[in-house]
Amino acid sequence: MALLNPSFCTALFLLTWLLSTAYAITSSPRSPPPHQLCKAVPGTPNWPSPASWARLNESTGGRVLQPSAPGAVCHPGQPDYNAAECAAVRNGWKTYEFHQADPVSVDWNQWANDSCLPFDGDPCSHQGYPVFVVNASTARHVKLGVDFAAKHNIRLVVKSSGHDFLGRSVAPNSLSIWVHHLKGIQTHDSFRPKHCSSTINTTAVTVGGGTQMMDLYAALDEIGQTVVGGGGKTVSVGGYLTGGGHGLLSAQYGLAADQVLEAEIVTPTGEIITASECQDTDLFWAIRGGGGSTFGALTSVTLATFPTPRLTSLQLLIATPSTTPKPTIFAMVALVLSHFPTLSDAGLSGYTFFSAALPNSDAGGLLSLAVLPNQPPSAMAALWASVLATIETAWPHTFLVLPETNEYPSFYAWFQDYFDSSAAGTNTFVGSRLLGREALTGNLSRNAEVLARFAGGGIGTAYLVSGKGVRDARPRGGGNAVLPAWRTAYVHATFGVDFEPLNTTARAEALSKVNYYLEPMRELAPDLGAYMNEANPEEPDWQHQFWGDNYERLLHIKRKVDPNDVFWCTPCVGNERWQQVGDRLCRVGNT
Ligand SMILES: Cc1cc2nc3c(=O)[nH]c(=O)nc-3n(C[C@H](O)[C@H](O)[C@H](O)COP(=O)(O)OP(=O)(O)OC[C@H]3O[C@@H](n4cnc5c(N)ncnc54)[C@H](O)[C@@H]3O)c2cc1C
Ligand SMILES: *[C@@H]1O[C@H](CO)[C@@H](O)[C@H](O)[C@H]1NC(C)=O
Ligand SMILES: *[C@@H]1O[C@H](CO)[C@@H](O)[C@H](O)[C@H]1NC(C)=O
Ligand SMILES: *[C@@H]1O[C@H](CO)[C@@H](O)[C@H](O)[C@H]1NC(C)=O
Ligand SMILES: *[C@@H]1O[C@H](CO)[C@@H](O)[C@H](O)[C@H]1NC(C)=O
Ligand SMILES: *[C@@H]1O[C@H](CO)[C@@H](O)[C@H](O)[C@H]1NC(C)=O
Ligand SMILES: *[C@@H]1O[C@H](CO)[C@@H](O)[C@H](O)[C@H]1NC(C)=O
Repeated sequence: MALLNPSFCTALFLLTWLLSTAYAITSSPRSPPPHQLCKAVPGTPNWPSPASWARLNESTGGRVLQPSAPGAVCHPGQPDYNAAECAAVRNGWKTYEFHQADPVSVDWNQWANDSCLPFDGDPCSHQGYPVFVVNASTARHVKLGVDFAAKHNIRLVVKSSGHDFLGRSVAPNSLSIWVHHLKGIQTHDSFRPKHCSSTINTTAVTVGGGTQMMDLYAALDEIGQTVVGGGGKTVSVGGYLTGGGHGLLSAQYGLAADQVLEAEIVTPTGEIITASECQDTDLFWAIRGGGGSTFGALTSVTLATFPTPRLTSLQLLIATPSTTPKPTIFAMVALVLSHFPTLSDAGLSGYTFFSAALPNSDAGGLLSLAVLPNQPPSAMAALWASVLATIETAWPHTFLVLPETNEYPSFYAWFQDYFDSSAAGTNTFVGSRLLGREALTGNLSRNAEVLARFAGGGIGTAYLVSGKGVRDARPRGGGNAVLPAWRTAYVHATFGVDFEPLNTTARAEALSKVNYYLEPMRELAPDLGAYMNEANPEEPDWQHQFWGDNYERLLHIKRKVDPNDVFWCTPCVGNERWQQVGDRLCRVGNT
């Protein structure tokens, strides 16, 4: 593509300026000035001048970055083309480590609009990425960024790790607040929230808003403790617990959002507040499950901790050659899942993967990675004995059963063997459905059909991460914004669909596949919903599928704390007044 020549750019700039001036003169004083119809973009007169950006930079102590697209070093036409750096970017592209360490990069290519992939033959422009970034390491840096975006009507995003499946941590023409360097881990024997008069009798940890799972687990393990946390090493507390946050130990202790005792938040109006059950209780309720980058930016959070359990683990493969008819394979999967509520009530949790053809093999079946806290291997064997016997009775000599049991002295020890080591750097959509006892134990012939369709893209997963602990959790202040269906769910079922970059047909096909695989699952558990952090970004009625009856209260709080929609993302609470038009964000009805 030919580059625009400078005189054309100048002409375009003048024309835009003339049009906006004309509008200002001819419109009545009551009409909003044109810059309020859409958020500002570079090249329009309402975009801040270089001097304004320089002042923001100065006020933050030089922390404003103007990073290139991470793939730009691989494109000879780009100013920072660099073959050596390109090799490193290409090597890192499929890893979570690469994207979390970069100021603007995200795991799933489509969210940066495939605008600068690091591969030969792909186009490269900055189009999908933020223009400026505040590399925040204090709440004040965050506040300066929020205030600047509010004052100049600039699209604002918050990026921590960039792992988001909904694409909320990147946007074109935006100012991004990079919270990754908001670190710090401080443990407590008991904790009194700032505005409360009494102490909560629990061990706790206060961490910066960019803190990542691996660092938190490692620090707590040294004192024999742990938290409810996720399966990815570099997932950060910010996006994780604002979405709810499930983990291996949530089945016993509740979701991550249920562990929060206090949070320091930079609000959309630029206040730095400390929310807890005693102060700013609406915000305290909303940030625990109401979604990331919606109610402000979390600069630190305090979470309840507990003594790390010893874990008995089971890695169980139940498989059969792919020549075995699919219905038999999925009937077996449905049967195993029907035991999950009972197994969960007995203390089991874990991750199960099922497929008509498991990766790197000809086998179809399931692989379950399960744990039992503070119980011996004999208890694990006893739990599964009747399940395995039922399978052998129903389908004699059909399935190969390979169990491998281990004991781990702590959660962290288990995690080091079983952290999520999947690949990033792809174009991927995911889907989710929560399932309760009724759905899992109902008509198993039907469930077999539903599960076969659910795994249509390759592999379906059933995370046994809810149950008793989530049902009985007592979030501080009497509740939080987590989707209420979590309290009756046992399983969060999910899958991913990859597609080819830079191909709008492939993108649309992937989304309709996600919808197709989910459809019978929704019918199976119509009253539950989806786990927002691992859901289809175009889930129909996402407002209620992600938040249920909490949506209306969340919306009310959003309007109160962010009357000017300084924080905007999709699919996020209260985003209905704006829409994306090409690479701009404009008021609905005024495009
Ligand atoms: C490998 C992997 C494993 C995962 N495992 C689990 C799991 O076990 N359990 C689970 O529940 N989920 C899991 N997830 C999903 C995870 O919860 C989401 O991807 C989540 O959005 C990640 O949050 P983040 O802050 O790391 O990512 P980001 O993409 O940086 O942020 C996600 C969202 O949160 C916002 N945000 C981030 N930080 C802040 C902050 N400080 N204040 C306000 N908003 C903020 C962002 O703006 C964005 O809206 C996993 C994801 C991956 C990629
Ligand atoms: C911000 O200031 C620092 C230090 O003065 C400088 O290195 C950096 O280039 C500036 N950022 C931008 C975007 O100009
Ligand atoms: C961001 O700030 C941290 C310190 O808080 C610093 O270590 C890091 O190098 C900065 N990153 C960039 C890209 O400037
Ligand atoms: C605090 O909790 C611990 C452990 O649950 C308990 O042993 C202790 O008695 C409690 N202390 C108070 C003051 O309630
Ligand atoms: C169970 O599901 C199967 C397969 O969908 C269906 O044919 C059958 O009628 C169902 N049985 C009952 C009792 O609903
Ligand atoms: C785009 O994707 C569609 C659907 O997968 C495929 O049929 C088509 O060949 C792809 N187009 C190109 C140019 O690769
Ligand atoms: C994505 O890029 C295409 C050009 O490749 C552009 O037409 C489109 O507007 C972009 N979309 C967004 C949301 O930025």
